[in-house]
Amino acid sequence: MTAVLAGRTDMDDGLRMAQTRTCGAWALPGDPTCAGIARRLFRGVADELALDREAIDDGVTMVSELAANTLHASQDQPLPVNPELWLYLRGTGLRVELVCKVFDTLPGWVRGNVPGRAVGRAPADAMSGRGLEVVHELSLGYWGHHLTRSRLSGTGIRGKAVWFALPVPAAEALAGAGHPITARDAMTELEQDLSTRGFGGRLVRADDHAADMAVLSIASGLTVWCRSAAAWLRAPGAAEQQWSYCDLVEVGEQAVQAHEMIVATADTFPLLDATRTGALTRGTPRRVHAAVQARATGSVS
Ligand SMILES: Nc1ncnc2c1ncn2[C@@H]1O[C@H](COP(=O)(O)OP(=O)(O)OP(=O)(O)O)[C@@H](O)[C@H]1O
Ligand SMILES: [Mg+2]
Repeated sequence: MTAVLAGRTDMDDGLRMAQTRTCGAWALPGDPTCAGIARRLFRGVADELALDREAIDDGVTMVSELAANTLHASQDQPLPVNPELWLYLRGTGLRVELVCKVFDTLPGWVRGNVPGRAVGRAPADAMSGRGLEVVHELSLGYWGHHLTRSRLSGTGIRGKAVWFALPVPAAEALAGAGHPITARDAMTELEQDLSTRGFGGRLVRADDHAADMAVLSIASGLTVWCRSAAAWLRAPGAAEQQWSYCDLVEVGEQAVQAHEMIVATADTFPLLDATRTGALTRGTPRRVHAAVQARATGSVS
C-alpha cells in the first residue's frame, strides 16, 4: 500500500494514488534542500488531483514549513533524521481529502515544546517560531502530529509525523475500481502494509471466509477487523473507529499510531505480544477466536 517513489513526481503519481488509494512516500534529504523538494512533490500531486488553486498554494506553504522543521529534529539526536513525505487520500464520497504527512525519526520535540492545537503566537518582531503558527492558520486548525513508524526504512524505524489535510473536490471523478472486495483481500493488503513497517512476524491473523471476516491482532488489545466491506480498529483506551475498504491506508496509519502510543506509555500499560490470547476479546466469533488461539499457541502453522 506504500508506493515508494523517488525524489520526483511522475506525471500521473497523483492519479495513480487516487485510483488505487495507495500512499505515496518519498525520501526527503536531511538538509536545507528538503523544503524545496517537498514543495515540488506536493504541488505535482495536488495539481493532478485538481485541488483548488488556493488550497494548492496553502498546501505548498504548509508542507514547506513541515519539511524545513525536520532539520530541528537533527539537533536533538545523533541519528539521521531520514525525513519522508507521505501523501494519501482519506474519506469517501464528497468528503475526500488529501492527507500530507512529514515524518522524521525524532519521536519527540526539540526542547520538549510539543505544539498544541492552539499554537502560541510568536512575538511580532520574532525572526523564527512562526512555521507552525502558519500551518495552524492556513489549515484552520486542521493539522496535528502523532507517533508513527517510517514507511521507507523497511524496518519500521520509529519517529513522528506532522500532518495537515485539504479537500479534494474532484476525488470521485478520479477514483478507480481497485479496492478490495472481500475481507480476506482487504486484510492481506493491510497485513502487507504493516509488514513493511516492521510488524512482520508479529501479526496474528485469522480468517473466516464463510462469514467474509478477517481479524488481525497486532499486539495485546490492538486488533483490526474486516467484515462486509468495513474495517475497524480496537485499541486500548480509544473509541472504536470504522472505515470502508478504500481507507485501508488510514486504517494502517491509525493502527501504527495506536501501537506506538501504547509503547510510549508502556510503563502504565505493558504491551503484550499479539501471540497472547488476550489479544482477542468479547464478541469474537468462536470459530475465529479458536483459530487465533491455535496459532498463538503454535498448534497450527
Ligand atoms: N519536526 C520537528 N522536530 C522537533 N522539533 C520541532 C519540529 N518542528 C518544530 N519543532 C520545534 O517547534 C518549534 C516551533 O516550530 P516553528 O516551525 O513554529 O518555528 P521555527 O521552526 O523555530 O521557526 P520558523 O519556522 O519561523 O523558521 C521549533 O523551534 C522546534 O523547537
Ligand atoms: Mg519552522
